[in-house]
Amino acid sequence: MTVSTGSKQRAAALREELNRHNYAYYVLDQPTIPDAEYDKLFRELEALEREFPEFVVMDSPTQRIGAAPLAAFVSAQHRVPMLSLNNAFSDADIYAFDKRVRDALDGAEIDYYCELKFDGLAVNLTYEHGIFVCGATRGDGATGEDVTANLRTIKTIPLKLSDTSPPKLLEIRGEVIMFKQDFASMNRRQHEAGEKEFVNPRNAAAGALRQLDPRMTAQRPLRFFAYGIGDQVGAMPTETHGALLKKLSAASLPVNNLGRVCRAAEGVLEFYREIGALRGSLPYEIDGVVYKVDRLEYQNQLGFVSRAPRFAIAHKFPAQEALTEVIDIDVQVGRTGALTPVARLKPVFVGGVTVTNATLHNEDEVRRKDVRIGDTVTVRRAGDVIPEVVGVVLERRPDGAREFVMPSLCPVCGSRAVRGEGEAVSRCTGGLVCSAQRKQAVLHFASRRAMDIEGLGEKVVDQLVDAGLIRSLADIYGLSVQQLATLERMGEKSAANLVAGIEKSKRTTLQRFIYALGIRNVGEATARALARHFGGLRALLDADLEALQQVSDVGPVVAQAILDFLAEPHNLTVIDALRGHGVVWQEMEPIARAGVASSKIGGATFVLTGALPNLSRDDAKARIEAAGGKVAGSVSKKTNYVVVGEEAGSKLAKANELNIPILDEAGLLALLQDNERAVS
Ligand code: IVH
Repeated sequence: MTVSTGSKQRAAALREELNRHNYAYYVLDQPTIPDAEYDKLFRELEALEREFPEFVVMDSPTQRIGAAPLAAFVSAQHRVPMLSLNNAFSDADIYAFDKRVRDALDGAEIDYYCELKFDGLAVNLTYEHGIFVCGATRGDGATGEDVTANLRTIKTIPLKLSDTSPPKLLEIRGEVIMFKQDFASMNRRQHEAGEKEFVNPRNAAAGALRQLDPRMTAQRPLRFFAYGIGDQVGAMPTETHGALLKKLSAASLPVNNLGRVCRAAEGVLEFYREIGALRGSLPYEIDGVVYKVDRLEYQNQLGFVSRAPRFAIAHKFPAQEALTEVIDIDVQVGRTGALTPVARLKPVFVGGVTVTNATLHNEDEVRRKDVRIGDTVTVRRAGDVIPEVVGVVLERRPDGAREFVMPSLCPVCGSRAVRGEGEAVSRCTGGLVCSAQRKQAVLHFASRRAMDIEGLGEKVVDQLVDAGLIRSLADIYGLSVQQLATLERMGEKSAANLVAGIEKSKRTTLQRFIYALGIRNVGEATARALARHFGGLRALLDADLEALQQVSDVGPVVAQAILDFLAEPHNLTVIDALRGHGVVWQEMEPIARAGVASSKIGGATFVLTGALPNLSRDDAKARIEAAGGKVAGSVSKKTNYVVVGEEAGSKLAKANELNIPILDEAGLLALLQDNERAVS
C-alpha cells in the first residue's frame, strides 16, 4: 500500500465520520462528539485535501462553503414540475376533499399521511448516485433558479446520502426554512450592524437563499425539511408516502418527526387541532398542515388537476399577520411602572381573533419601526402572544401622519417618568402612589400562578383601587362582604364567593408567595429556585448579595433586584401584614441540606410525563437509571424531579403543587451531564 492509498482511505473515512457527526448534530440535535474533536477531524481532512487535491470530492464536508460568488443565477429546469397545493380553510372543506378522494377511488376510509406545512421556500435537490449535484428553487414550477452553492451551505442537507445502494437519480422535494430563534438572533445582529431587518423568518430565508455569494448564505442559519420526491431513476419502490419518508430519513435527509398517518376526515381534523395547539411552541413557523393520501398507488390513480394534486390538500391555519391602521398611540403603565406605548388599531381579524391594540414595546421600538399615527401597519398575533406591530407600509403613509412623543409625566398619576441610562423603558416614579401600578400589582398578586384568588379580576380591582379600598396588597385580606357588595355588578353572593376565594388563597406555598410579591426580575422559575434554596422566608429575608447568588439561575441583576425590594420598608411591612392576616405555607428543608445534592442524581426519584422532543421514554429512563436515579410512576412528596414534555398533564400540576423542581428534556440532559462531571 502506498502512502497515498493509505491517505486516500483515511480521507474517505474522515469524510464518512464527519458527515455522520454532522447529521447527529444538525439533524438529530444530538451531538455525538465535542465540537473541538469535530474541528480536529475537520482540520485533518483539510490538511489531507491540501496535500492531495485529487482527494477532494463534491460530498466532502470541507466543500460546503467556498464556491466563488456568482454574477447571476442560472435557471434550472425541473424534470418533474413542482406543483402547489389546493388550500382548505374549514372542516367542511376537508370533508368535501375526503369525499372527492373516496368517490374517485370507490374506496372506504382513506389513510392520509399528515404533515406540517412549513412556511419557507420549496426547493428541489437532485442526487445522482447518492451525491448532491444540483439544487433549485421552485420558480414558476417548471423552471427555477440554480442555487446549488447556497444549498450546499445548509448543514442539514446531506452532500451524500447514507444509502449503500443509492438510486441513479433521486429528486428530493422539501422546504428551506429559518428557525424562529435563529431569525431573532440574526435580526438582532442586523440591527446592531445597522443593517436592514427582516419582517419574518420566511423573508429572511428567501433573502439568504438568493445571495449570489454563498459565503453570505453560510452566515444565515437555514434549515431544510424533506417532504417528498420528484423524479427518480433506479430506486426501490415504496408503497406508501409514510414509508417513502422513512426511507429518506434513513438516507440522512431531515424529515420532520411530527408527521403521521391518520384515518379519514375525522382523523386528519384531529391532527389539525393537535398541531394547531402546538403551533406557537414549535421552533419554526408553519402556516397549516398538509394531508396526502398515504398509498402511492392511490396517489397515481387520483392524479392532478391543473397545477395541484388531487391526492393532497393544505389545511391552513388562520393568518397570523394582517394589515390595519393605527388610530392612535396610547401609553400604558405596567406593574413595575414601565410606560408602554400601545397602538390603538382599526379592528382587524388576525390569528383567529379581532385585534384592536398592539404593543409597541418602548420608545426606541416606535422610532426604529417608525410607526406614526395614521400609518397602515402589519400586525402580528402568534398563538397566545400579545399582538404586536411588525412594520409600517410606507407607501400608504398619509399626509400628516403624526409622530409619537413619549410623555415626561405618568399619564395616570402625573409623577415624573424617567428613562434610566442604558434602559429602553421609561418608568413612572410614583411607585404604589400610582394607581395603575397598584392595580397591576394587585392583579399579579391574585393571578392564577401567584396567590390564585378566584374572582379578583381587572374590573373588581379597578374599582377597589379607585375607591381606596385597596392601598396595599395586605388590604385584600381585610375586605368584607359588605364592602365588596357595594361595587358595581357585584351582588351579595359574588361578594361572599370572592371573600371565600380570598380566604382560600391564604394557604399557599413559599414559591407562590415569593412570586406574588412581584419583585422585579423574579418570575415563577426564580421564585421556585429561591423557595427551594432557602426553604423558608426568614432565610430569604436574611440573605445578602452573595448568598442570593448561590441560588441556581440568580445572577447579580436578579440578586440586586431582590435586595432593592427588601430594602424598601414598605415592602417588609406588607409582608408582615400578609403573614398577620394568616397567609401561610409549609416551610421546607433548604436544598443545600436536603438528601440530594443539586448536581447529583444518585438516589433521586424522577417522574416522567408527556412526550419529550427527542428522547423516548425508555431512553430517558435508561439514562436516569444509568446515572443512579430512580424513575417512579406518580408524583409524591418523595419525588425529586419531574421531567415534562409535550402535553404533560396532571403530573405537572401535582409537581407544581408540591413545589417539585421541573425539568424539560434539555434540563434533564444538562443534569445528567453535570452528574457525569461530578462523578468522574
Ligand atoms: S407537498 C405536489 N408538503 O406548500 C405537492 N408542500 O402550496 C407538493 N409546503 O410549494 C407540495 N410544507 O412550498 C408539501 N409538507 C409539505 C409542505 C409543502 C410546505 C409548501 C411548498 C409548496 C406549497 C404548496
